[in-house]
Amino acid sequence: MLKGKHIILGITGGIAAYKSVSLLRLLIKAGAEVQVVITPAGKEFITPVTLSALSGKPVISEFFTANTGEWHSHVDLGLWADAMVIAPATASSIAKMANGVADNMLITTYLSAKAPVFIAPSMDLDMMAHPSTKRNIELLKSYGNHIIEPTEGELASHLIGKGRMEEPEEIVKFLSRFFACQQDLKGKHVLVTAGPTFEKIDPVRFIGNYSSGKMGYAIAEEAARRGAMVTLISGPVSITTNVQNINVIKVDSAQEMYDYCISSFPICDFAIMSAAVADYAPIEYCDKKIKREKDDIPTIRLKKNPDIAAKLGSIKKDGQMLIGFALETNNEENNAIDKLHRKNLDMIILNSLQDSGAGFGTNTNKITIYTKQEEKIEFPLKSKIEVAKDIIDRIIQK
Ligand code: PMT
Repeated sequence: MLKGKHIILGITGGIAAYKSVSLLRLLIKAGAEVQVVITPAGKEFITPVTLSALSGKPVISEFFTANTGEWHSHVDLGLWADAMVIAPATASSIAKMANGVADNMLITTYLSAKAPVFIAPSMDLDMMAHPSTKRNIELLKSYGNHIIEPTEGELASHLIGKGRMEEPEEIVKFLSRFFACQQDLKGKHVLVTAGPTFEKIDPVRFIGNYSSGKMGYAIAEEAARRGAMVTLISGPVSITTNVQNINVIKVDSAQEMYDYCISSFPICDFAIMSAAVADYAPIEYCDKKIKREKDDIPTIRLKKNPDIAAKLGSIKKDGQMLIGFALETNNEENNAIDKLHRKNLDMIILNSLQDSGAGFGTNTNKITIYTKQEEKIEFPLKSKIEVAKDIIDRIIQK
């Protein structure tokens, strides 16, 4: 799985830096091309000569090579990499990564990396347990980074507890699993809807909702990273995606979203309906701005929008899967299960506005998945990026 992969190995200044030598050897043995980037503190623990001898490349530590003035482009490095692994990652480097403190080559490279980033923390147990470290690790997870959890055991301080960097063999396995899993949607076509729909009243007003598109875009990006060709039908949102293999179709209204879904669905292996489609639209569109007249309050008459998920449920073929969302405020479970059956879905993902950090606009979500086989799987509050992974994992299991 690692053969031919370009990997940046980031080494920071911790006692576990000695293990990075084994990690580097294992990565090279597995066929990866490795570029080591080390912090100034890292060099206090392990010599760049050893690392460059093993990797066959000069080790990068500074922004410039002192004698030639050659600039090391962290941007180019970030684009070159298929993965970046930071092992060991000290509390200080974790804090800098979480907060964008770009004061060394390793952090600037991290901030420029387009590839998945794997972080293997290593520190004493008190530092590991400190609320600031915990918060920084959560922040890094919320940006989509992968944390390779430290293990428990005897630490450099001779104290026993959690903080030992995971063993190099396990880190290599973690990476191999990631790349294996990345390909699990190769050859599949996936349809995702995201964001709100806007139903025009007049040239300046519309009926809409608070959906930001974050949940749907995270799902589309996760599916594309795992090898799928994705059609993302997006309502009006301010976010964008630069992940490859996503064809974004921008729409405004529920009717437009419906039309594109109907034409895209037949070639899809599965569809995930995360858009917050407006249930109603004005019957008449007024092509001039409705004026605010004294004592005259206009009445907006509404019609029902087409139910896109229900329509796809009615034309779904064997082998196709349809996954819906349920956004609820009360009677959550019953409403979700009712929608699962009524729309002929294979799976429904409930998120409730009763849960803080869940639903519209947030970077996090808390979901419960119900399947038509009457399974119920609850998840804790997580970043929408992690929620997207959980959803795709479940779909693949099915
Ligand atoms: O975009 P974010 O800010 O990240 O927020 C994410 C989200 C809260 C919008 C998302 O997680 C979510 O819950 N999306 C579905 C919202 C919704 O409209 O739920 P619903 O319970 O009203 O609809 C049930 C299902 O039918 C949904 O899959 C919906 O896409 C679909 N539907 C609804 C109405 C309609 N006319 N056509 C549809 O296809």
